[in-house]
Amino acid sequence: MANQFDVIILGGGPAGYVAAIRAAQLGLATAVVEKEKLGGVCVNIGCIPTKALLHSAYIARLLKDAKEFGVEVGSVKTDYGVAMKRSRQVSDQNSRGVEFLMKKNKVTVIKGAGLLQPGKKVKVGSDVYEATKGVIVATGSRVKGIPQIGLEINKSTVISSDEALFLEKTPTSLAVIGAGAVGMEFADIFNAFGAKVTLIEALPRILPIEDPEASDTLAKSYKKRGIEVIAGAKVTKANVGKDKVVLDVEAGGARQTVEAAVVLMAAGRAVNTENIGLKECGIQLTDRGFIKVDQRLQTTTPGYYAIGDVAGPPMLAHKGFREGAVVAERLAGHTPHPIRYDNVPSVTYCHPEVASIGLTEEQCKERKLDYVAGKFPFSANGRARGTGETEGLVKILRDKKYGEILGAHIVGAHASEMIHELAVARENEYTVEEIDLAIHAHPTMSEAVAEAALDSLGRAIHM
Ligand code: NAI
Repeated sequence: MANQFDVIILGGGPAGYVAAIRAAQLGLATAVVEKEKLGGVCVNIGCIPTKALLHSAYIARLLKDAKEFGVEVGSVKTDYGVAMKRSRQVSDQNSRGVEFLMKKNKVTVIKGAGLLQPGKKVKVGSDVYEATKGVIVATGSRVKGIPQIGLEINKSTVISSDEALFLEKTPTSLAVIGAGAVGMEFADIFNAFGAKVTLIEALPRILPIEDPEASDTLAKSYKKRGIEVIAGAKVTKANVGKDKVVLDVEAGGARQTVEAAVVLMAAGRAVNTENIGLKECGIQLTDRGFIKVDQRLQTTTPGYYAIGDVAGPPMLAHKGFREGAVVAERLAGHTPHPIRYDNVPSVTYCHPEVASIGLTEEQCKERKLDYVAGKFPFSANGRARGTGETEGLVKILRDKKYGEILGAHIVGAHASEMIHELAVARENEYTVEEIDLAIHAHPTMSEAVAEAALDSLGRAIHM
């Protein structure tokens, strides 16, 4: 039957398209329902275009300091519009890549907004499609404002990352509310493109989910670059004008106002659970508004699964990738390896980059674990000195008794790449000693990982 599939997936973002590919690889007749471009937030208005813009920001900063490397480039002019257009090309290329993968794997893409119906059915327009094995909900998340204090996204003076990614010009001044991954990355980008940036975070430190040492390193680095960082700050009121916004901010018992041409909301995301027929199918939500799932990612209604952002934190593309693959494998009758949610790397691609896995030092203390922190700063690493990227460090938290890697934190250039050594190590329960056993090439930034491992054993060589 033309309208019958083994698996129907609602949403073609990272979680959904990977579920589709994996299901198709395993011989299941698969359809993806998507109302916009394939690739979701990640490919179109998230991970991919921001990484392109962050690279433009990196080049701008590099050129400004180029003289010190013996390269004279004259005065450096930046043009956000050009960087933005390049980022759009990169994004489009990736979206077309996902389209290609759908074709290659013979996944049917149904264009339109899907509505879940009882009996493992999905309605798109006037057509109803039926899944014999399962329906997977992968509808993702969207940006949100803080309307309670007058900060509703108006797409001109109060924007979200959605609009920031399409600006033709850098705003003269920008207040970023929220110093999670989104806030940190856009503060970095717009500072490099010449905006006066103020970064406001409600919790006591920026990047609050990361290790305190990572937050401190980033706060110092940002301040040095002229980004004003206000942490432990509550925005109590916003006066949104035609060409500027004035924020009332309370921090450390003192009040101040922050004026900016544009406010960028980066205070978290809301999940897309409305108007997709969840209630009609008996699918329940958690107290925090995510779709309630069991260990197998099945919702409260058998035959319906949820993956990616809608299924709960961490709201990260790679967590969605894995959930997509695992659900597809189960629907195909396999028994996949359970997902280790305590081993999902977290990466913020600002400069210097921040990457981590496992517990922070604060969490080790809270859990009263007997641990030792091994550290190695990039200022003592030859490769980092060569490239002038000496900010940051590697920190490995080692369980004293068994040598287990409780957590690892990297701040520095290429941290996003280096973290995977530790991800593989933790996934396979390698000890800190086993990290050192593997010979690390010299000179590389990765040597700092081996040195931090050694430092946790009290025997770092180059420090
Ligand atoms: P987030 O939840 O990671 O960070 C939001 C920050 O805003 C938090 O630190 C929070 O304390 C702060 N905040 C909340 N209300 C505030 C207020 N009224 N005033 C000041 N600060 C306030 O959310 P974000 O950065 O918007 O990202 C959304 C999701 O997307 C996250 O799960 C994030 O991990 C993910 N993401 C991941 C990226 C990556 O992996 N590099 C890049 C961008 C987003």
